[in-house]
Amino acid sequence: MRRIFSGIQPTGNLHLGNYLGAIRNWVRLQDEFECLFCVVDLHAITVWQDPAELRANTRRIAAAMIASGVDAEKHIVFVQSQVAAHAQLAWILNCVARLGWLNRMTQFKEKAGKHRENASVGLYAYPNLMAADILAYKATHVPVGEDQKQHLELTRDIAQKFNADFGVPLFPLPEPLILGPATRVMSLRDGKVKMSKSDASEYSRINMTDDADTIRRKIQKATSDPGLLPDTPEELEGRPEAANLLGIYAALADQTLQAACSQFAGECSRRLNEHWLTLQLPDSSRSPRKCAVWRATRGISMRFLPRARTARGLLPRLLCARSSTW
Ligand code: TYM
Repeated sequence: MRRIFSGIQPTGNLHLGNYLGAIRNWVRLQDEFECLFCVVDLHAITVWQDPAELRANTRRIAAAMIASGVDAEKHIVFVQSQVAAHAQLAWILNCVARLGWLNRMTQFKEKAGKHRENASVGLYAYPNLMAADILAYKATHVPVGEDQKQHLELTRDIAQKFNADFGVPLFPLPEPLILGPATRVMSLRDGKVKMSKSDASEYSRINMTDDADTIRRKIQKATSDPGLLPDTPEELEGRPEAANLLGIYAALADQTLQAACSQFAGECSRRLNEHWLTLQLPDSSRSPRKCAVWRATRGISMRFLPRARTARGLLPRLLCARSSTW
């Protein structure tokens, strides 16, 4: 059984990095795999979220996934917090993962920054919840952008340790699928930082809900260097902005980075940016109506959770204490 699990946080709008690094690959893999696509709201609350905005964003992100081509009739699209198995398995995995492993996670260091002591415990344990998301469904493949690679390596370590500790081949080791020429889309203002929903500058990213004029303005203002574009990807070393623009162009035009280099060799970045404007972005405002399509996932996740509980020595079923005085 080849099964995909992947997720996205409902924080702000989907941007071009989410699309090229993840969602477009989800759509392309849908015919080959059984898929679960999840709006991971429990991950979002590891940092402060306004409650009303979080609710609205959860619906908005699901709608954007469907508008980008995720088939919610054929596959499972759902909200993480609506399936209790994620949090339950995450606790079991908290007791499997080692502190030393989590201490190495670069995303925690980046997100907590200098205020580490003030970060939530959830932010620190975040990768264990991500492992639970994947392992609760015994997913075999996980399509993500480059930034999630370290979390997936941790997921494999956790699965391996669980299987070894309890002598059961319960969890498959999931394979990351990091595909295409734009696995790490960088900010349009600074080629050294990742395009992200949390960047203060709107000009750093292209949102999937931006209209054509806004996209045009953002591309025209995108930072690059004054040099001419080279004819091989190797010569982009040390030129992060030019590499980013060419990578995005290649991904949108559905060609390799080498093909994009050959097409624009000797031109300045401005010429390349004019070409971008001729390419099509999916319009995520198209089908919000479908966001009401949730299919229950309990059937699958609940099949595996009892086996993880039993292997760990927990009683297989919930036993409720009853007292007439309650
Ligand atoms: P999140 O919400 O930050 O991003 C969702 C997906 O988009 C990819 N991505 C990018 N790809 C290329 N360039 C970028 N600038 C860029 N920014 C984001 C991410 O790699 C991701 O694939 N921890 C995850 C969500 C998650 C998850 C999971 C993913 C929770 N549980 C289980 C896979 C499996 C996250 O914060 O993604």
